[in-house]
Amino acid sequence: MPFQIRNFVIIAHVDHGKSTFADRLLEITATIPGRKMREQYLDQMELERERGITIKMAPVRMSYVMDGVEYLLHLIDTPGHSDFSYEVSRALVAVEGAVLLVDATQGIQAQTLANFRSAKKAGLEIVGAINKVDLFEEDDPRLLKSREGLAKLLECQEYEIFLVSGKTGKGVKELLEAIIRKTPPPQPPPIAINTKDSGKHSRGLIFDSFYDDHKGVVASVRVFDGSFDGRSTVYLLGTGTEAHIKEVGYFAPELKKLSTPLEAGMIGYIATGIRNPEAVRIGDTIAVMPQGRSEIPPPLHGYQEPNPVVFVSFYPEESDDFESLEKGLQKLKLNDSALSITPDQNELLGRGFKVGFLGRLHFEITADRLRQEFGVATVNTFPSVLYRIRTKGAWAEIVKPEDLPESYEEIWEPMVRISIFLPPPDLANIFHLYQRFRMVDIETRTAGDRAEVTARMPLAELISDFDDQLKSITAGFSSFSYELGEYEKTDIVRMDVLVSGNLVPGLSRFFPKGTYEKEGRKMIERLKKVLPRQQFAQPIQAIAQNKVIAREDIPALRKDVTGYLYGGDRTRKMKLWKKQQRGKKRLKERSEAKITPEVFRELLKK
Ligand code: GTP
Repeated sequence: MPFQIRNFVIIAHVDHGKSTFADRLLEITATIPGRKMREQYLDQMELERERGITIKMAPVRMSYVMDGVEYLLHLIDTPGHSDFSYEVSRALVAVEGAVLLVDATQGIQAQTLANFRSAKKAGLEIVGAINKVDLFEEDDPRLLKSREGLAKLLECQEYEIFLVSGKTGKGVKELLEAIIRKTPPPQPPPIAINTKDSGKHSRGLIFDSFYDDHKGVVASVRVFDGSFDGRSTVYLLGTGTEAHIKEVGYFAPELKKLSTPLEAGMIGYIATGIRNPEAVRIGDTIAVMPQGRSEIPPPLHGYQEPNPVVFVSFYPEESDDFESLEKGLQKLKLNDSALSITPDQNELLGRGFKVGFLGRLHFEITADRLRQEFGVATVNTFPSVLYRIRTKGAWAEIVKPEDLPESYEEIWEPMVRISIFLPPPDLANIFHLYQRFRMVDIETRTAGDRAEVTARMPLAELISDFDDQLKSITAGFSSFSYELGEYEKTDIVRMDVLVSGNLVPGLSRFFPKGTYEKEGRKMIERLKKVLPRQQFAQPIQAIAQNKVIAREDIPALRKDVTGYLYGGDRTRKMKLWKKQQRGKKRLKERSEAKITPEVFRELLKK
């Protein structure tokens, strides 16, 4: 029976039920046998299951018969958190349709809007649905209000919005059939550089990839024209790499080898056999090498790579693990192209890498993945942003506070424009966040059952514990999204930490004037708790603006070297004391080396 293809994504705000809704689709289409089914099936990564969030987009092929026609459906489940919006944007280019889910209890939230705008910009056909309706009576005003809000956003009639429950399955079949009807069949390349060439070549867009020990780099591909089979010789246009394909297949969601070709319109994988992770780039075009290598096809329109905004240096906990860290990061980058990686060095922690992220959660997840998937434990510095420093007649960019030059004129820091959604009664409680997180130009609006606060604030504040503080004040009923803004001149001060008079690299931080005294004291108190005692006293100090702002002394361990000598052998005693003094001096010279990775780890804890 000939089949038709439909490709679509599920998009929504965090926790609005994408993966649970996808479970019901997997059941209805009998993609996963009942005995193998488990909750949030598409969240296959161990970390996703541990944390209960989607981190990676997850493609899956399903099949469904409607009105006597067989449909091959390629669904991509996407993450909801804004740190992973690059995953969503890549998925959008591979499909023609989108289901936008809204949790009935929460209504439209920050990422509902952000994802809706991206899907619209990508030209997708969008079907809206209110999810979790099992929690309400059918005529509950809150349910009707959520539906009204979504209809307004999608500029459609209220009856066109589906009411579903991913939990009970209510309305899911009807929604699936609507998606099939509304989503257009696969379209030619979004922007082919040379459209008249379309159809002449076999080209696919690499929207994701990962490393497999047997298959080499496996590229997730949306085929836009022609076809790829398990014997094709392919060419990666961006890196100029040639490869003999090992196999092609589809996502079930695990890899399923195909004996037939992957054809135009399909989403599947190509096992390239390539061993060098750097040869395969996300957003690159993979093409079948033309006969006689005559005419290399033009590339498909790729992606705009995102700019990292949060930087953290990673060092291996054991210095022997440097190479494992390097390999782990390279392989991780294959699967997470938003990471930027550059070599780095720290006097105490040795060789490592400065890694750029799209947000704080992105950083935390990466550190966890390195440990879980590649067995590399790391010591990480405080997350920082990129500061611009004006010195006499020149500008410099720094990430680490210790790189601030001795004399400078101004420090500039990146700002964001934030938009916070919250229940109106909580407006009264978030006031104290304004000052604490240096928010300015605050505007408040109330629309129905939601309030929106917009403001400007430093990115550095946003990546501190802003998220946790906001959540705790609003009992989780809030969300925010942000856009990067301009750099602004700032009044922050560098605080250094000294142990036995030596600067501890990696512990310097920027703080706004007015808070650094408190932060300095906090740091020194923590350091005192975790730093092991030595045979000599260790002064520990926090210094800012050439002033000691906090100081503690860790007393020396006392060891009575003369204890076993009794009586009056004074010369012998003196000799032993002198020897001990010499030993202490030697130790002192090496004293900074006593700040071990464990001590660092303790100090850098949130
Ligand atoms: P992220 O990808 O991390 O953004 O989450 P998600 O949108 O995939 O949401 P997920 O499916 O993980 O569901 C989030 C929570 O909502 C889970 O605790 C689900 O059990 C619950 N949930 C999902 N769908 C429904 C529903 O229809 N009804 C009810 N009552 N709960 C639901």
